[in-house]
Amino acid sequence: MVNNLSFPPPLLAATGLCKSFGGIKAVYEASIEVAQGSITGLIGPNGAGKTTLFNLLSNFIRPDKGRVIFDGEPIHHLQPYQIAQQGLIRTFQVARTLSRLSVLENMLLAAQKQTGENFWQVQLQPHIVAQEERQLKEQAMSLLTSVGLEKKAHEYAGGLSGGQRKLLEIGRALMTNPKLILLDEPAAGVNPRLIDDICDRILTWNRQDGMTFLVIEHNMDVVMSLCDRVWVLAEGQNLADGSPDEIQTNAKVLEAYLGK
Ligand SMILES: Nc1ncnc2c1ncn2[C@@H]1O[C@H](COP(=O)(O)OP(=O)(O)OP(=O)(O)O)[C@@H](O)[C@H]1O
Ligand SMILES: [Mg+2]
Repeated sequence: MVNNLSFPPPLLAATGLCKSFGGIKAVYEASIEVAQGSITGLIGPNGAGKTTLFNLLSNFIRPDKGRVIFDGEPIHHLQPYQIAQQGLIRTFQVARTLSRLSVLENMLLAAQKQTGENFWQVQLQPHIVAQEERQLKEQAMSLLTSVGLEKKAHEYAGGLSGGQRKLLEIGRALMTNPKLILLDEPAAGVNPRLIDDICDRILTWNRQDGMTFLVIEHNMDVVMSLCDRVWVLAEGQNLADGSPDEIQTNAKVLEAYLGK
């Protein structure tokens, strides 16, 4: 008998996820796995159910059916904020930044469990609160530098381009020190000159800091250069999964996804 116990369990494993909107089966019996330390891709034609799957994994939308295990624990009964506290953070296809706050304030708001939120701690231990604020600001500025937005720190987030908002969202996600980041089309709407830059940054966070990513992306160059493994959805269902090379030459994928 093969002993599978020596394999580390996936960081994220979802099985049998279903979600219908009226008569549309947006996601139907879908499964996905994300290995610890990987950059995993999720691709599929427009309307395949990729964003809906992200919404189900993070419980922004409740599944009709299915299970999601994250870091060894079931999470499908938790609220999105509780899932975020457990270390699973997602970004949105259309970046959700707070336009009338500065870029730096957007970053600071993303930090979890700040001591300064506790009234008594502010009164009794103001030096600890001040020190924590300083550390958070340093972390925020360092992350803004790594997403190339340090010069925009004190400008309104509303003045950023679509691509810069995407970078800010990734920076905000990293402020929470997550275990897994779900990125919904990080390269969409981004100036082509910036795309290589974003890929390099994602690779650095992955290779140097051990951050795990699940990435939805239509840009095949991005998928092929980043991902260790790729899952393909079509019409809400799993079509294939494998290495980028396997997926690129898979006849079913070419037919459904590339229309060849
Ligand atoms: N809130 C909703 N209400 C009704 N239908 C929805 C809703 N969200 C998604 N859908 C439908 O579910 C299907 C899957 O949509 P979804 O946004 O998940 O696809 P996608 O793979 O992310 O597409 P894209 O690549 O264009 O972003 C589509 O037919 C879409 O119209
Ligand atoms: Mg989508």
